[in-house]
Amino acid sequence: MKYILGIESTAHTFGLAVLDKKGKILSDVKDMYTTKSGGIIPMESARHHKKVSWKLYEKLIKDAGIDESEIQVIAFSNAPGLAPCLIEGMKFAKEISQRLRIPLVPVNHCIAHLEIGEITGAKDPVLLYASGANTQIIAYEAGKYRIFGETLDLGVGNFIDTFARLIGIGFPGGPKIQKLAEKGTNLIELPYSIKGMDVSFSGIQTKLKHMVESGKYKIEDLAFSLQETVFAMLVEAAERALAHTGKRELLLGGGVGCNSRLQEMAKIMCMERGCKFFCPDKSLLVDNAGMIGYLGLKMFKSGLGFKKKDFDKVDIAPRERTDEVEVSWK
Ligand code: ATP
Ligand code: FE2
Repeated sequence: MKYILGIESTAHTFGLAVLDKKGKILSDVKDMYTTKSGGIIPMESARHHKKVSWKLYEKLIKDAGIDESEIQVIAFSNAPGLAPCLIEGMKFAKEISQRLRIPLVPVNHCIAHLEIGEITGAKDPVLLYASGANTQIIAYEAGKYRIFGETLDLGVGNFIDTFARLIGIGFPGGPKIQKLAEKGTNLIELPYSIKGMDVSFSGIQTKLKHMVESGKYKIEDLAFSLQETVFAMLVEAAERALAHTGKRELLLGGGVGCNSRLQEMAKIMCMERGCKFFCPDKSLLVDNAGMIGYLGLKMFKSGLGFKKKDFDKVDIAPRERTDEVEVSWK
């Protein structure tokens, strides 16, 4: 096997990557659907993916400096995510694999976030997966990736984005809220909602909405307090998972992991517990095709994947849960 193509399309990002047979990422390109105000509209995001796909593919092949015919496997994220976006990714994957007559490997996006941590040196970590749509504490145990804790309502990134929208900032709101938070000085008390290793954000959201509408608080202070409160919840949940599983490594994943305050808090917790902290590069924290190719390669090497005659068995699974996946490649 020479090269593998990875395809990511679960939500707002359409990404492509070429990896060599050792899992080294040779080229990784992406194009993200954004909005000036308001959240993601799934159909629009899917239209975006369709529109950018072939141009991006040309760029990828050129950047990687390979010939298309040298690609011998395709991995694409088939789960979980927004159905219209997943469908575009799958169509694109099937089209290329049919033309090149090469096998297809469907990959679970959440598990890809975890497995890519290997690149940073993590061996058996607890993953704090904090993205837009997902907030989960995941770790490997007895043949499966188990979810030890998760959000009971919305994902932490979506929660931050909703707050951003409320104060008139477009999508994605995370980086801008971080900037505002850096200027905040007053810690305002917000509901702190954690049960075991599960967290929830809707109570904080309602409270913040009232506070913004009252006009009595500085936006910078609200952004600061929001970050301090919800990141403390996430780090506490992660710490409990470390204690529960006896694992000694924490890995960050997901776009919210780009937040330097969250990184700092997680790092301090790890230091205090004598655990190692791993945080991939930003480009691998956010949705990317490199991680899809990376996990797809491992799965393919272990014998997983579909040949052309079985392509009708390849489908999307928008709601597949992390612990539904049989981990036979480890
Ligand atoms: P998934 O499909 O895995 O749920 P996703 O599609 O929501 O992921 P990601 O790229 O993993 O996408 O994460 C996007 C989220 O990360 C957005 O909600 C965005 O606001 C948030 N984000 C990005 N940078 C920061 C930051 N510096 N601080 C906080 N949040 C951030
Ligand atoms: Fe993601």
